[in-house]
Amino acid sequence: MATHTPGQFANQILTGDALDCLGRLPDELVDTTVTSPPYYRQRDYQGPEQLGQEATPEEYVERLVGVLNECRRVTRPSGSLWLVLGDKYQDGQLLGLPWRVALAARDAGWILRSDVIWHKPNAMPSAVKTRPTTDHEYVFFFTRSARYYYNADAVREPHVTFGPQSKMRGGRRHFHQRNSTPEQGKNGGQSNLHKGRWDQAFHPLGRNKRTVWSVPLSKFREAHFAVFPEPLVATCVQASCPPGGLVFDPFLGSGTTAVVAQRLGRSYLGIECVEQYCQMARRRLAN
Ligand SMILES: C[S@@+](CC[C@H](N)C(=O)[O-])C[C@H]1O[C@@H](n2cnc3c(N)ncnc32)[C@H](O)[C@@H]1O
Repeated sequence: MATHTPGQFANQILTGDALDCLGRLPDELVDTTVTSPPYYRQRDYQGPEQLGQEATPEEYVERLVGVLNECRRVTRPSGSLWLVLGDKYQDGQLLGLPWRVALAARDAGWILRSDVIWHKPNAMPSAVKTRPTTDHEYVFFFTRSARYYYNADAVREPHVTFGPQSKMRGGRRHFHQRNSTPEQGKNGGQSNLHKGRWDQAFHPLGRNKRTVWSVPLSKFREAHFAVFPEPLVATCVQASCPPGGLVFDPFLGSGTTAVVAQRLGRSYLGIECVEQYCQMARRRLAN
């Protein structure tokens, strides 16, 4: 069998069906995958082998998990996968597809580490009057092994502020005495700040990333389909791909994952079944 080097696949866009193209990739190549597959019966991408048009939700889940399974094979032992997926109403009922896919992927061998709510503050208004308007999608974080690369410091978020009425008054008391630092307070023997609260209150880089991400929809209008917002992809890449590593997207679309990977000093590898979108992605990367 031919031997491959990871560099051989760096910064490439493959045109074709995700499962077919994945079959030609070697094992344990990718550091992290960030991907948003077509949602079930949401949009016709006009691709010859496009996913998302299956007759039943069960067939959709099975086909998508087949692709995710192959993604696991090409992922390094320290690697991970971020799956962005929205749900679908059929005959007035919510299908629950994101969780169906997540659990099936878990059963197939991925370790499900986190579910994230992607809140879209500028989501399209809808005409529904019999239920709340949906303004979120799911992001699932999977890892290949129990020990994996995750850089929490790269994705910390701002602390909450402590007002006089704050329930976190303990944080203030742990200044210990006038003019002392939080560290002195913490180490002064009077602290009831366990590690989690300390981190919450004073970590110099901010608090640990939370599981609700409020990220506006992207304004990239050249693509006539939902494009990833770059900050959403950047969080996933910074948290789970070491600098210089390889970021993969088997449903590349207009190439946002590759563009963000390139900007953050990582390599990219993408698969897309519509040639026109591959060209769009290459144009964005060249710019
Ligand atoms: C939701 S879009 C991805 C958008 C992308 N995240 C971006 O920022 O532009 C899904 C993409 O998957 C592609 N696709 C659908 N079925 C596919 C298949 N079987 N193999 C590869 N790509 C496929 C579609 O053509 C579409 O471009």
